[in-house]
Amino acid sequence: MTTDLSPVTLGSLADVVGQQHVLTGEATAGFAVDWTGRFQGHTPAVIRPRDTEQVAAVLTLCTEAGLAVVPQGGNTGLVGGGVPLHGEVVLSLTRLADLSEPDPDTRQVTAGAGVTLARVSDAHPDLDLGVLIASRDSATVGGAVATNAGGLRVLRYGPMRSQLRGVEAVLSDGTVVSHLSGLVKDNTGYDYPSLLAGSEGTLAVITRVRLQLVPRPRDLVTALIAPGGLAEVHDLARRALTAVPGLLSAEFFTRAGLDILVARAGLRPPVFDQPVPDQPVPDQPVPDHASSDPEPPAYLLLEAAGPGALDDLGDLIGDLPAAVGQAPADRARLWAYRERHPEAAGFLGVPIKLDVSVPADQWVRLASTVAAATAAADPAASVITYGHVADGNVHVNIVPAAPADGRHEDAVLRLVTSLGGSISAEHGIGVLKGPWLELARSRAERDLFARIRSAFDPAGTLNPAILPR
Ligand code: MLT
Ligand code: ZN
Repeated sequence: MTTDLSPVTLGSLADVVGQQHVLTGEATAGFAVDWTGRFQGHTPAVIRPRDTEQVAAVLTLCTEAGLAVVPQGGNTGLVGGGVPLHGEVVLSLTRLADLSEPDPDTRQVTAGAGVTLARVSDAHPDLDLGVLIASRDSATVGGAVATNAGGLRVLRYGPMRSQLRGVEAVLSDGTVVSHLSGLVKDNTGYDYPSLLAGSEGTLAVITRVRLQLVPRPRDLVTALIAPGGLAEVHDLARRALTAVPGLLSAEFFTRAGLDILVARAGLRPPVFDQPVPDQPVPDQPVPDHASSDPEPPAYLLLEAAGPGALDDLGDLIGDLPAAVGQAPADRARLWAYRERHPEAAGFLGVPIKLDVSVPADQWVRLASTVAAATAAADPAASVITYGHVADGNVHVNIVPAAPADGRHEDAVLRLVTSLGGSISAEHGIGVLKGPWLELARSRAERDLFARIRSAFDPAGTLNPAILPR
C-alpha cells in the first residue's frame, strides 16, 4: 500500500465525485484529527462520494493505485480508527444521506451510511432507534454500524448490531454486496451484515443499512440517585434490572467527574447533594478526587418508560437521596450530569479514553481499583470514570501526567483482562488498543480475523493500520 496519490489518480477521483468533492490541503484538516485531539493524522485527499456507485468507483481506483483508504462517517470515533494517521486517503461517507420513510408495519427504515443517528430517531413520531448515544447529532449510521456503537439503552435494545436487518456495502475491488430485504427470518448463508458490525472499516465500506426501529418509549421518568459508593450504585442498578420492567438506562458517574463539570462547565451540583450556588461557577479549582480519592461518592442515573415507571422507580429508590424528573427539561437537566462526562476530562488535558467491560460480579472491583492501577503507572494522572453500569461497562478517562507511552493503557487493560473482561466494550480497537489485542484474543482467533479480512479485502486497501492482517 502507498500514500502517494498521483495527479492522474487525483484527476480520476475528481471525474467520479466532482472536483468540489475532492478536498486537499487545508480543507482536509478537520477530517485528519479526532474530536479529542489525541489522534492527529494527515491525508493527501478527502473524497466525498454521493452514492454507492461512486463509492465503488472510488474504491476501484484506490485499489488499482495501491492507495490505503480510511472510511469516515461523522468522525466521532474515540480510538483513532477513522482518521488517516498514516497518510491514507479519507473516504468520507456523509453525503450518502438518503433516508427512506419508516415502514410502520415492519417498523424498519433504510438509511444511507451518512445519515445521522438523530435523523433516524426523529424520522417517525411513534418509532425510535434503539441506540442512543451522546454524539447522535454527528455520528452516522455507517460509522455506528462499523463500530457496533452501544450507548445509553443497550440494556434494553442491544447495540447497533442488534438493530441491523440488512446491509449494502462495497468491497475494496468495487464489488457491491447488498442484502436489504429486512427479513427477520433469513437463514440463507453467512450473516455478513453482522460481521461488518464492529469491523471498524477493515472489511468493506458500508453504504446503506436496513434498521429495525423500536416503539418510541413514552412516559419517561429519569432519576438521579446518590446511594453511596460504587458498590451501592452497582447493587441498585442490578436490582433495577428486575424491579423496574420499563428500565431503559442505568448509568453511573462519580464525584471526580461531577466536580469538574460543576467547576468548569457551569453545571449546578445535584440539588440533594450540595447547596446550589446562585450563579454557575466556571473556572473554579477542581477538587482532587480524580487522583487522590480511591472511592469518591458515586451516582446512578436510571431512566424508565411506561405507565408504571414512576411508581417502580419510587419503590426502588425509597428514601435514598435522589432527584426525579418527568418533564423534558427536567430530564435533560438530570441527563446533562451524565451526558457531559465525555467533556469532563478534556478540561484537565487531552485524555486517553479507555472503554472496558467486565462480568457483573467483577464490576465493583474494576470500578474501585482502576484509579489505583493507573496511579501505579503514573501517580499524578487524573482518572475519571463513568459509563453503563448495567452492561458491566466502565469508561476510563485518563489525563496523563507522565508520558503517554502506553503505560496507562497497559495498567488498565491488564487489570481488565485479569478480571475476565474486554479491552473494548463499545469503542472498538482502532489504533489505541491494537498493541493489547493479544491480551483479549488468542493467536488462533487473530489468525482467523486476518483470513476473514483477506477474503474481503485481499489488496489490503481498507484501514490497513488497524486490526490484524
Ligand atoms: C459515552 O458513553 O459517553 C460514550 O461512550 C463516550 C465516551 O466514552 O466518552
Ligand atoms: Zn459509552
